[in-house]
Amino acid sequence: MKALLLSGGSGTRLRPITHTSAKQLVPVANKPVLFYGLEAIADAGVTEVGIVVGDTAEEIREAVGDGSAFGLDITYIPQSAPLGLAHAVLIAREFLGDDDFVMYLGDNFVVGGITGLVDAFRAERPDAQIMLTRVADPAAFGVAELDAAGQVIALEEKPEHPKSDLALVGVYLFTPAIHEAVRSIEPSGRGELEITHAIQWLIDARRDVRSTTISGYWKDTGNVADMLEVNRSVLETLERRIDGEAEDCEIIGRVRIEAGARVTGSRIVGPAIIGADTVISDSYVGPFTSIAGDCRIDDSEIEYSIVLRGSSVSGVRRVEASLIGRNVEVTPAPRKPAAHRFVLGDHSKVQIAP
Ligand code: DAU
Repeated sequence: MKALLLSGGSGTRLRPITHTSAKQLVPVANKPVLFYGLEAIADAGVTEVGIVVGDTAEEIREAVGDGSAFGLDITYIPQSAPLGLAHAVLIAREFLGDDDFVMYLGDNFVVGGITGLVDAFRAERPDAQIMLTRVADPAAFGVAELDAAGQVIALEEKPEHPKSDLALVGVYLFTPAIHEAVRSIEPSGRGELEITHAIQWLIDARRDVRSTTISGYWKDTGNVADMLEVNRSVLETLERRIDGEAEDCEIIGRVRIEAGARVTGSRIVGPAIIGADTVISDSYVGPFTSIAGDCRIDDSEIEYSIVLRGSSVSGVRRVEASLIGRNVEVTPAPRKPAAHRFVLGDHSKVQIAP
């Protein structure tokens, strides 16, 4: 069994909160979302992984390397343009050979991994196995329609009027039967070869397509509340480990302080993670906070928030439920005139305490 991890796509689909051109590198608890996918694949006992890369190939290669850090053997598969998930399968034909494979979308996060799903597929080998989850906004996903017996009867890609709230999760298991399907379909209205259509082709050809409904699923849709929530759920599983320096501090519960970080005169209440080379002084860092590497938090209070690499928060209290991008500076304004001063990127949202 092999894995096909999709990490292509062009920078133009980006939302600014990622502050990186590859959305698969958005950090969750200080680790790129793509790495959770790689770990889930390795945990499921699959070692041969093809990673489909596009415009952001360099960034992905730099982050993942040859895969040895994950115990994986990685082949990069360049895709000339983001022509669709089924197109990715088409161009990976040589890598995939006649093996069964798990296709994993690099911007998806499945809580608890995929080992159970992969084991069940190995045992039963239907032609395709899809994962579904209930979502509040099905129109933003592929949507499945099931019959009374729970059998998938139809799939639609981003339907205007969804027939259910069961969204396709970005993890699919296939036998080589999928290759004929991806060769047989035409591009969709948005000009992509849709994997949803290829699976519908299998259903129409009366092949064995099964579904499992899961909970604990997330993808980066640009929704900050969701991102804070997935950060929280991952931090819940964190174990205490202090590799950096902590001096004159109160460190309570499951706190990870990475090597090279320095915390002084502060109170840190877990679960929370402080990245490498970050400096925290005279501050409070509360539960469910991820502070990336190379940050500076000074004379401030922050809780239930995510701070990305290279940012600083100085003399500000209190910051809550916030996502702070890369290389951001948050400071108090001068006392006179009493005014807020902003330099905000596109699509920013700011809430000011009265
Ligand atoms: O995330 C689940 C959804 O993923 C499913 O519910 C949909 O049925 C499925 O079509 C897909 O929808 P999106 O439009 O959200 O997919 P997106 O374009 O964001 O691509 C998903 C991942 O695959 C992302 O990591 C980029 C990568 N990709 C995408 C395309 C279109 C490629 O590597 N190559 C591509 O050509």
